[in-house]
Amino acid sequence: MADIFDNATELPNAQLEERASNLIGFDERFNRIFNNLKLLLDQEGIKKWSNEKHGVVFPAIKSLFDRHPLVIMEGDPGTGKTASAECIANRAVKLLKKEGYFLKLSTRVRGEGMHGEMGKLVNDAFDALKTQAGKKRIAFLFIDEADAIATTRGTLQMHQEEKSAVNTLIQKIDEVRQLEGRAIIFMSTNRLHFLDEAIVRRAAVVMRFDRPSHQERKELFSKDLEGLKLSAKELNELAELTGAEKNNGLDYSFSDLRLKVIPEAIARAYPDNALTFDTLKEIIKIVKPSPEIK
Ligand SMILES: Nc1ncnc2c1ncn2[C@@H]1O[C@H](COP(=O)(O)OP(=O)(O)OP(=O)(O)O)[C@@H](O)[C@H]1O
Ligand SMILES: [Mg+2]
Repeated sequence: MADIFDNATELPNAQLEERASNLIGFDERFNRIFNNLKLLLDQEGIKKWSNEKHGVVFPAIKSLFDRHPLVIMEGDPGTGKTASAECIANRAVKLLKKEGYFLKLSTRVRGEGMHGEMGKLVNDAFDALKTQAGKKRIAFLFIDEADAIATTRGTLQMHQEEKSAVNTLIQKIDEVRQLEGRAIIFMSTNRLHFLDEAIVRRAAVVMRFDRPSHQERKELFSKDLEGLKLSAKELNELAELTGAEKNNGLDYSFSDLRLKVIPEAIARAYPDNALTFDTLKEIIKIVKPSPEIK
């Protein structure tokens, strides 16, 4: 089982909570997803609630559970889909006072899977998910860059074998409902329109991840460079320079700022000079926002 997953993490996990605190806008994204998911994840709890308050389990509650435990995260590269998935699972488990197990399907194996093993991979992954799900334990399966596996069957070049893997995947997503909230699937993609329509239609939540807003870019500079004492005016200017208006309609992504602009500015200053507002401005002129994925 181990080698089809990149990692498997026990939840809750304090490091993940720490990581979430470094993700700008995380709370808001989490709340939107959790509000949709809590009814699926806490089926025992909601039945109990209905019984206690009303003496019956409403028919409406049974239909709630017909929904598929699938969350799709979509958006441009570097907007935090991969970084957020585990943190979202972690916080959800904590709020529900449960335990969790987070399985991340390996991209490497999927690459190999292209040549005839995709269906088996899907089966193995869902078997592992089922094994890990328990009464007090929610099992998460994260299929990162899911367009590699869940590509729309409408594509002409698609091989029969790949199409049947997508069929298997759909069937597995349907079956996971029988686990009554003890297992949940996360998928990420930066090309939602490449995902098979039947899969997208099943998602209980399709969450869009956007590039950071002006306010979020300000927050990122101020957080990551805490101690540099940038003034409010300077922070504003940095946010403006990395915004769509100054860059042909394209905002810088979170990773453009955190993994390119700031490191390059530090590299330029180190070791002889101090990091300054001007260094940052110079680097912004050189480093451009990553292109949009169409
Ligand atoms: N909300 C955020 N706040 C601060 N930094 C972020 C945020 N989201 C992402 N980042 C930074 O960007 C990096 C890349 O993010 P991540 O890998 O999650 O992007 P992604 O959406 O999965 O992109 P891709 O579609 O290319 O896989 C993270 O390691 C982190 O440094
Ligand atoms: Mg990613």
